[in-house]
Amino acid sequence: MGRLVVVSNRVPAARDRQQPAGGLAVALRDALSEGQCLWFGWSGQQIPEEDKAEREVSIDKVDNVTYATIDLTHSEFDGFYQKYSNGILWPLCHYRAGLMSYTRADREVYLDVNQLFAEKLLPLLQPGDLIWIHDYHLFPLGQALRDLGVTSPIGFFLHIPFPPWSLMKALPGAERLMRNMHAYDVIGLQTEDDARNMNDGFSVCGVEARAQVFPIGIDPESFAEQARDGLEHAEVLRLQESLRGKPFIIGVDRLDYSKGLPERFKGYEAFLKRYPEHKGKVVYLQITPVSRGQVEEYRLLKEELDEAAGRINGMYGDFDWTPIRYLTKPVPRELLAGFYRLADAALVTPLRDGMNLVAKEYVAAQDGKDPGVLILSHFAGAAPEMEDALLVNPHDADEIADALHKALTMAQSERCDRWNRLQPDVWRVTAGSWARDFIGMLAAKVKRA
Ligand code: ADP
Ligand code: G6P
Repeated sequence: MGRLVVVSNRVPAARDRQQPAGGLAVALRDALSEGQCLWFGWSGQQIPEEDKAEREVSIDKVDNVTYATIDLTHSEFDGFYQKYSNGILWPLCHYRAGLMSYTRADREVYLDVNQLFAEKLLPLLQPGDLIWIHDYHLFPLGQALRDLGVTSPIGFFLHIPFPPWSLMKALPGAERLMRNMHAYDVIGLQTEDDARNMNDGFSVCGVEARAQVFPIGIDPESFAEQARDGLEHAEVLRLQESLRGKPFIIGVDRLDYSKGLPERFKGYEAFLKRYPEHKGKVVYLQITPVSRGQVEEYRLLKEELDEAAGRINGMYGDFDWTPIRYLTKPVPRELLAGFYRLADAALVTPLRDGMNLVAKEYVAAQDGKDPGVLILSHFAGAAPEMEDALLVNPHDADEIADALHKALTMAQSERCDRWNRLQPDVWRVTAGSWARDFIGMLAAKVKRA
């Protein structure tokens, strides 16, 4: 099999190449452990417009992966990443068309940056490569490469949901986006619903392409090991000490409106109101590092959450008890794994999510003899695979409250039964198996003439 060339906007920064944050980078890092790989994408750096002409691809090799990255100018970063990818495509694909703020100028920058990726990648390609493009930032990249004469198999995987065509067509230029997908030999999505929606779009637009389902997973062995070892870290021990045996709930999400955080806080508040026996006892730690902080909707969300956490703590807290411990900084993965292991329950309640790896990480981190309980939104892509979690509608605060009470009072035997039914799929559908299935399908494609 040929060399694998992965292309994504987000490539882990040099310091995080062992431990990146964000679903795509985490899953890919876990998946790229075999064979020689080239991983091409944005360096995470912005440069002034005047340095544009001289910019070069920088190359860095770590183990079997060669990272090739390019800088974006300030205006490319703004138009391509902040405005078009995260101000238009992200809300639309998460069924939030009302949050979308479209301009034709941003679309032009998006197309230009895809063209730039194609031109910078072209000289790095070798005969026999398999090219695998990731996520909504790069929908048109396959077609841009074909236009430059690339004949290698090219696959595309969308890590986020794909909405029904009736919604997607709100995007000006949606038909062209769909037609450009013809450039791909394999198209992968997370769930049956997403694939059906995309295939419906293909039929309406008369495009001969077919989306298939490749659910993504984590590296459960190594995560479980990190969770076990995590218990020896001084910080994890400090957390454990601070709990003093109190029931402990955890939430871990990027600060994103798709994650349903205000709704989750309302659910927790309803829980304290309706089940006052937990007041003064339970500890809820929400770790929510700021993400895309310069995009208006994300900035507003941060203000809303800061306010809600302060209000709940002010209203329900006491001089010796803080209802919500709320952090907006990232936490190293080995600590995160140890934190999950200590938690009696995890709240994973997105309003809409491609897959959601946190749900799988939480299950992998548990001690099977005394596991915690996963509370999971019906609208996470992981929900169909994880029906033994406590499934909730994140819009219903009382349902979240009931699930929290149920989780914290659940008998050990039921917790074990549920975990024993969740665990096999988390071990079976991994980052590695996801990548192998997709690449296997791509490798089987006959080279185009
Ligand atoms: P998304 O891709 O939308 O961010 P996922 O749940 O699929 O959501 O993936 C998030 C990944 O980022 C997980 O691997 C999770 O452990 C990691 N992550 C999320 N929040 C943090 C945090 N506060 N610190 C470190 N890693 C985090
Ligand atoms: C989601 C997206 C990824 C993205 C990640 C982090 O997982 O599917 O493409 O990399 O969020 O977001 P960021 O904007 O920081 O890359």
